[in-house]
Amino acid sequence: MERTAFPAIHFPNRFPNPIPQTNRMADTLTIVDNRTGKTYELPVQAGTIRAMDLRQIKEGPDDFGVMTYDPAFMNTANCRSAITYIDGDKGVLLYRGYPIEQLAEQSDYLETAYLLLFGELPTASQQHSWTQQITTHTMLHENVKKFMEGFRYDAHPMGIFLSTVGALSTFYPDARRIFDPDSRRLQTRRLIAKVPSIAAYAFRHIVGRPYIYPDNDLSYTGNFLNMLFKMPAENFLPNPVLARALDVLFILHADHEQNCSTSAMRNIGSSHVDPYSALAGAAAALYGPLHGGANEAVLRMLNEIGSIDKVPEFIKKVKAGEAQTRLMGFGHRVYKSYDPRAKVVKQIAELVFTVTGKNPLLDIALELERIALEDEYFVSRKLYPNVDFYSGLIYQAMGFPVEMFPVLFAIPRTVGWIAQWEEMLLDPEQKIARPRQIYTGAGLRDYVLREQRP
Ligand code: SDX
Repeated sequence: MERTAFPAIHFPNRFPNPIPQTNRMADTLTIVDNRTGKTYELPVQAGTIRAMDLRQIKEGPDDFGVMTYDPAFMNTANCRSAITYIDGDKGVLLYRGYPIEQLAEQSDYLETAYLLLFGELPTASQQHSWTQQITTHTMLHENVKKFMEGFRYDAHPMGIFLSTVGALSTFYPDARRIFDPDSRRLQTRRLIAKVPSIAAYAFRHIVGRPYIYPDNDLSYTGNFLNMLFKMPAENFLPNPVLARALDVLFILHADHEQNCSTSAMRNIGSSHVDPYSALAGAAAALYGPLHGGANEAVLRMLNEIGSIDKVPEFIKKVKAGEAQTRLMGFGHRVYKSYDPRAKVVKQIAELVFTVTGKNPLLDIALELERIALEDEYFVSRKLYPNVDFYSGLIYQAMGFPVEMFPVLFAIPRTVGWIAQWEEMLLDPEQKIARPRQIYTGAGLRDYVLREQRP
């Protein structure tokens, strides 16, 4: 299927190579332990020290040694990765070195998936066989339908999605051969190909419509739209503008270095479980409203606000921290400037609305952004729109119920989870993830018989 020409999203090349070149020899950190007066020299590599190097710092021979304490890993690198680079201050996002803006404008999702997995853009023949390989794996085992019938009519599609992905591990027990590259390749193709089919089946289940089988003559997103919206009694041709818009949204959501769900994928995968089971856990992490569930939460927030004149009152509630009210779709652990993906999403919204008609909630979103970007509370905390702020407006305009929004995030992120999982598996420094703790519980005490308890 011809890819629709997309109005060029021109982003001038804003900066020279943003990746800090730490060419210097390994520097060192000198630490004086004032408890003992001892001095230690720790090597600094790529701006980090090894946490294990701290263990030599002891008060006495029986001392465990110094550990780092970093709840939520605010300042901890848990891996070396060559897949995605983010500069949160400059608003830079690179997939294997390519700026996200250029990929959004010139690439497509399957080509970007190839890039994330294999590290280089495919040649024409590689792209052709890669697309063929994915297209021929879109079918689901017929038993998946029976499995899905077990869900209530009002089941959240993300719950159906993550359960079904996990269930696929029972259909493909060969996936346990995680150190066999051919098996990993096969599971990779199966997962990328089948997640849109699972998502479409989940949607059809909750709206009570019959499942539509994949159509191999359509593009990746064209087939997905077909499986979602085709009515058996009618012909359906996916709108090329919407198919391309979804394709670009999938590019934007494909990977984002060590976010919550990717860290879950790596942690679960470090026990050497199969990739379907690990990916079900990653999808569960993404489901949360602070992460991939934020796009759904944004729409619920915009509906709750209801009209532009209610925006100032809502902002006041957020600033007062009333009932944990947050400006959903705003803020980011890494981006302390505008999320570069949100800029592209905003442009896609304008294009989609030329086909679907403008989403009336857009005006409320724009007013929220306008006020927030001027307000000291948000400015001082460096809170800007993230990828989830505008994406839901597009999905809703395209006919998706809000419950489907996190599923639309999980589909493209599947390739990022797999690429990061495989990089972890092949990293000689990685082993099973098992953090330590600071114990704050009761001291040693003996068991008390029930009749002797106060
Ligand atoms: C994604 O990590 C990734 O890369 C994720 C992601 C990806 O591609 O994988 O980019 C996708 O998950 C995007 C984020 C989607 N989530 C939301 O939009 C939910 C709303 N945003 C947040 O709750 C929050 O901003 C987080 C969770 C995204 C980041 O939280 P942090 O880094 O832990 O920051 P924090 O909660 O410690 O907040 C710092 C301050 C606090 O105020 P003070 O205690 O200092 O007074 O900022 C405030 C927070 O209250 N704050 C917000 C806010 N986000 C942070 N206040 C109002 N509205 C918000 N959205």
